[in-house]
Amino acid sequence: MANPADRIAALRWLVDSGADEAVLAQPRDRFAENKAPPRARPAPAPGDAPPAKAPRGASVPRGASVPLALEAPDAASESARDLAAGCETLDQLRDVMARFDGCALRHTATNLVFGDGNPESRVMFVGEAPGADEDRQGLPFVGVSGQLLDRMIAAIGLSRKSAYITNILPWRPPGNRKPDAAEVTICLPFIRRHIELVAPELLVLVGGTAASTLLERREGITRLRGRWLFYALDSGEIPALPIYHPAYLLRQPALKRQAWQDMLALKHRLAGMT
Ligand code: URA
Repeated sequence: MANPADRIAALRWLVDSGADEAVLAQPRDRFAENKAPPRARPAPAPGDAPPAKAPRGASVPRGASVPLALEAPDAASESARDLAAGCETLDQLRDVMARFDGCALRHTATNLVFGDGNPESRVMFVGEAPGADEDRQGLPFVGVSGQLLDRMIAAIGLSRKSAYITNILPWRPPGNRKPDAAEVTICLPFIRRHIELVAPELLVLVGGTAASTLLERREGITRLRGRWLFYALDSGEIPALPIYHPAYLLRQPALKRQAWQDMLALKHRLAGMT
């Protein structure tokens, strides 16, 4: 493909398909690898042990450290739970998460996106996962959808400085894809501890992933939004309001009317009116 215009078109197609990260230092032609003839395997001698199964996930070069998540999401999630339980402050939690090696997303992300705003706030917003802008800046909801969230928050007299904002996942999934179930399971102990440490009076669950994960509900956001539900902690319950994700509102502006009703419900609740 010598023509520069064709190369640019091919790159644009890759980016549009979500492949917008260089994962390896050198390009690797996996098509060529797949075309290589299979190597003949010697027949096992009677009594030989069966061949070991390859680990799940991407292949890891010999000698490289194996991210725990590639092998054992359960072990990674257990280790996240132990680490999170040992944190008594948000600084400790941020530090533990920055060093946690159990989620493969950490290796493709540029920054840990921990949280922003006032940790003493009465209200905590929880979104899904950082996008490209958040990954670059290390702050949640700073891209286009974050700017809409800022306006929604401002419309009820709050601000990014007076509220507290974070996400279910602290690392960007490459290409802004939806986080998979294993990634959410592994990182769940961190967001649970994060909520315990902030201990807000009210939670706002921004989008379907945050709502279904934290409320353990199977319904979609269309059914959950605008209803005061409860997020269960070991120490009690926090009223939680699922709302549409601002990225969804940007694609479906007709839903902004319902989103406004939800923000008013939050405003009234904060004012002790409901
Ligand atoms: N979408 C999210 O859910 N969180 C962010 O931080 C940015 C976009």
